[in-house]
Amino acid sequence: MCTADLVEAANDLGRAILRVLVTDRVAPGHPFAPIHWTAETAPTGRVDVLVAANPDPLSGQPDSKASTVTLGKYPARWYGFAVSTDDISPDCAYWAKARVPGGWRAELAGTALPQDWVAEARKLFGLADCQVASVSDQARSLARVAVHRDGRLVAALFVGPEPVALARDLVIALLGKGQAHDALAGRARGDVVDPGPTVCACLNIGRNTICEAISTGRARTVAALGEVLGAGTSCGSCRPELAGLVTRFGCREAAE
Ligand code: FES
Repeated sequence: MCTADLVEAANDLGRAILRVLVTDRVAPGHPFAPIHWTAETAPTGRVDVLVAANPDPLSGQPDSKASTVTLGKYPARWYGFAVSTDDISPDCAYWAKARVPGGWRAELAGTALPQDWVAEARKLFGLADCQVASVSDQARSLARVAVHRDGRLVAALFVGPEPVALARDLVIALLGKGQAHDALAGRARGDVVDPGPTVCACLNIGRNTICEAISTGRARTVAALGEVLGAGTSCGSCRPELAGLVTRFGCREAAE
């Protein structure tokens, strides 16, 4: 199993479908999953369905750490990534959506393979009055659909037989203002800087931006990243990841 695969976690109480992050931050045999997904944001991603109704009598905390599950790779036939200026309610076996600046993003997957991805995109986004641009490679089961209005991107869908690899934050940044053909490319043009996946959500700062600051010597510490970029200066929850990037890319640069 690889990062971004889907895994099915199950026990006698229920089942959940979750995205995989392979990491050494948890001990072997001890899967960790966040509790914050709801029926509105990821209906098959709720881990409370795997936890017995046995809360601590004093704190009221659920018995999550005593829950045992079996894990198996979820047999998705397609994976997708979508962005939209309007809220969306996908209708597929797995989905998880979250707010982004300018709209919504969603990870999708299904076990039934649609015949027409443009029709699926129109159904997903419900934007009948918009124009559509698309590219597909049927032999490789790849498709990209960009929906635009008055030349501005309002939604996009990317699908493939494996977890979709593309510059997600770049596509999100195009929502409501970018061009459809830029979204279809799924990666940065030569004159556009790809900020990379978001590390500091409070300040909306991406990994590539942070790594560039570290590797060019503009910021060699977490504190300096705060001064130069603002990263880590609000809630602070990203500081451990910032420290990891400083160690990794600062050391690499020093060693070269
Ligand atoms: S996520 Fe970086 S300061 Fe909150």
